[in-house]
Amino acid sequence: RRGLIIAIDGPSGAGKSTITKRLADRLGYVHIDTGAMFRAVALVAKRAGLDGADDESLERLCRGIEIDFFRNNGCCRVIVNGEDVTEAIRTPDISSLTSAISARKVVRDFLLTLQRRMGNEGGVILEGRDIGTVVFPNADVKFFLSASVEERGRRRWLELTGKGVNVTLEDTVSAVALRDKQDSGREHAPLRRADDAIDVDSTGLSIDQVIAIMEGMVREKE
Ligand code: C5P
Repeated sequence: RRGLIIAIDGPSGAGKSTITKRLADRLGYVHIDTGAMFRAVALVAKRAGLDGADDESLERLCRGIEIDFFRNNGCCRVIVNGEDVTEAIRTPDISSLTSAISARKVVRDFLLTLQRRMGNEGGVILEGRDIGTVVFPNADVKFFLSASVEERGRRRWLELTGKGVNVTLEDTVSAVALRDKQDSGREHAPLRRADDAIDVDSTGLSIDQVIAIMEGMVREKE
């Protein structure tokens, strides 16, 4: 094995992506953003007009999707069938469609295989909703990263308005709360803290503080 398998799960807006990226850099590990993979499937489904399709059509769609992460100077681009979709998968529209599409078992099964293949050599940090519970239940270190819904909504709002997207704080907090509900309430692989996960609540902590806490815990296991 090249190193540990680290799982980071938690609701949207908890700072998972930023923290996972920086932690991976510090450890020299590969960062696998599983949310981006679900987003990629949602984008392709939307473009094909198959966002509410039956299982069979969705499965066929999945089989035609190739997802790659292109890593260059710490910057991670998401490539789907040769196209760079890094920005296209981050719109509020795709966020809500992703929540619906990720509830579909055919989609989860397709990505599960891919995620295990990408991670099983170790030296990886996977971030998502079900890494510690379903994808790698035997991960070496599991974190459950959360923060209050208000703080997560505010962070997402700052991120979106910073990119020039025109949304209100109130609507962003509601969208985050709705996504929590959908992600926790779904039948297949719902968002759930693994019994052996370490809880990290980032409310009121800076990103650097959170990373320092997590890095310390990983180093103990290395
Ligand atoms: O992490 P991110 O916000 O990019 O994830 C987008 C959506 O993908 C989540 O709201 C969730 O519905 C879905 N997802 C999932 N399982 C994962 C990662 C993401 O269902 N492991």
